Order: sequence, then C-alpha cells, then structure tokens
Amino acid sequence: MTVSIILKELNVPRSFTPGQWALITGASSGFGRDFATLLAEQRINLVLTARRREPMEADAERLMEQYGIQVEVLPADLSRSEAREDLLRSIAGLDIHIDILINNAGFGVFGAYTDTEWSRLNQMLQLDIVALSHLSSLVLPGMRARSEGYILQVASIGAYQATPGYAAYSAAKAYVLLMGEALNRELRGTGIKVTVLAPGVSATQFLEVSGQKPTLYQKLFMMKSRPVARLGLQALLRGKMSVVPGIFNNLMVQSLRLIPRVLQANVAGLLMRNR
Ligand SMILES: NC(=O)c1ccc[n+]([C@@H]2O[C@H](COP(=O)([O-])OP(=O)(O)OC[C@H]3O[C@@H](n4cnc5c(N)ncnc54)[C@H](OP(=O)(O)O)[C@@H]3O)[C@@H](O)[C@H]2O)c1
Repeated sequence: MTVSIILKELNVPRSFTPGQWALITGASSGFGRDFATLLAEQRINLVLTARRREPMEADAERLMEQYGIQVEVLPADLSRSEAREDLLRSIAGLDIHIDILINNAGFGVFGAYTDTEWSRLNQMLQLDIVALSHLSSLVLPGMRARSEGYILQVASIGAYQATPGYAAYSAAKAYVLLMGEALNRELRGTGIKVTVLAPGVSATQFLEVSGQKPTLYQKLFMMKSRPVARLGLQALLRGKMSVVPGIFNNLMVQSLRLIPRVLQANVAGLLMRNR
C-alpha cells in the first residue's frame, strides 16, 4: 500500500511543462498576480485578463524580462458573455492554445441580501458562476482533442456552509466547488486535470471589494496570498479534486461534518460580524 502511494507520488509532475500557455483570469490583483508569477517561474507563457489593463501590463513587462516568457494582456469584463467569446477569439488569433486555465476572477458582495442591489448581485453571479463555467466550456474541447489540460477553479471555504452576510456569494462558491469536483471525476483518465482551490480569508483586495471591514476572526486567520496560490497549483498538478489551504481552514471544513447545518450557518454568520 505504502509502496504504491510512493510510486504514485513519484509519477506526479513537480511542475508544468515549460512553453505551455496559461490563461489567468482576475490577473490584475490578489491571487491572480501570484498565479502569474508562480507560473512564470516555471517558464509558462501567460495570457492575463481582468478589466484593469495597467497592473497586468506592468506585471507582463516584469515577467517577460525576468523569465524570458511570452505574456499577452487581454483586458475583458468577464461578466459579459460576448467579452468571453471575444477573449477566446483573440487567443485563437494569436495562434496559441490554452493548456492551463486558472479560473480565478471573482468577487463577493457582503451585506444583507434584502439590502443588496440586484445589479451588483447579478454581476457577481455572472462572474463567479457563469464566466467560470463558460470559460471551462470554451477551453475543454481543445483540451479533449489534445488529451491534456489543467483547470483550476477558485472557490472559497464559504462554499462549505451557508454564510449569512455572504448568502449569494457562498452559494455561488458552493456551485464552483461541486461543479469542479464533479468535473474532476468526469474527466478522470482523459489527461485533463480539474482541481478546486477553496481559500479562507487571504490578503488580497477581496474584503475591500466586497465591502466588508475585516472581523477579528479574519484578522487573526488571514493568510498571505502567494502560499495559497502555490498550494492550488501543486494540487492541480497532482489532479486533486479540491484543496483547502491552511491548518485552521482545514479544521473548520472538517469540523462541519460533525455540526448540524443550522449551527453551521449560525457560526458562519457570527464569524462574519464586525461586532
Ligand atoms: N482573498 C480572499 O479572502 C478569498 C477567499 C476565498 C476565495 N477568494 C476568491 O479568490 C478569487 C480571486 O480574488 P482575490 O482574493 O485575489 O481578490 P481581488 O484582489 O479583488 O482580485 C479579484 C480579481 O478579479 C477581477 N475581476 C473582478 N471583476 C471582474 C470582471 N467583471 N471581469 C474580469 N475580471 C474581474 C479583478 O480585476 P479587475 O477589477 O481589474 O477586473 C481582480 O483581478 C475570487 O474568485 C475570490 O472569490 C478570495
């Protein structure tokens, strides 16, 4: 048993194949920038996308110079269906194909559901659920034809329980978690690996964008973003179904198995409260 586990470990590639192309969504900030640097360190060529062009162009220049890779910056509002199709058309026009999709772009909306404007919630659902699913659909046929590919779906530990204050966001991330885990199984044996990364609170612009002041719990357990992104890429190389970074986050997720659902939602709501 132990021997077979070790042999399996030895078969696991330690890095992606230099020269492959990765599409990173949400590459202008937070985890997206870390994914870009981590993949550049492995000599992966990059397509960076998000709405803000400037931070991606600055990173592109730095990464091309430092690692001798090719980087394309293609800004897009991924909450729009046509923008996603245009993006993939532009990529095809560059005569490259996507070997690695990092489906990372996303944001949360904090506050009572009743008090939140539908337009904001709708934009979040379009990005966190629809864009992630659509981009997966757009790259998968090519990956199937080549019998090779990697997709990392970025969810959240919020996906594991109902979270008052983040009702729609945690539900959206539950979709990402279940869809990604199911895809991992569906694609077993095809050469395509799909992994879900479910981070806990991490030092990015996430809280600022969601409109939440960090709570004491979040201040105490906030992780740096680079190790979280690194763990996601390692899990993807291994073809794991999903990964939760950090000991505390793992304890939280595991403990949910033992707690009634009503209590899970109460605790999640309490942890999100500022006072
Ligand atoms: N940090 C955390 O505590 C945490 C915890 C769990 C899960 N996550 C997840 O991690 C992922 C990355 O977030 P982050 O923490 O790195 O936050 P972040 O620093 O706010 O980055 C979010 C990224 O998404 C992009 N984005 C937002 N709206 C977009 C749109 N309409 N079209 C294209 N790109 C868009 C942003 O770029 P532009 O504004 O330039 O478009 C930015 O690059 C998200 O899916 C988030 O839900 C974060």
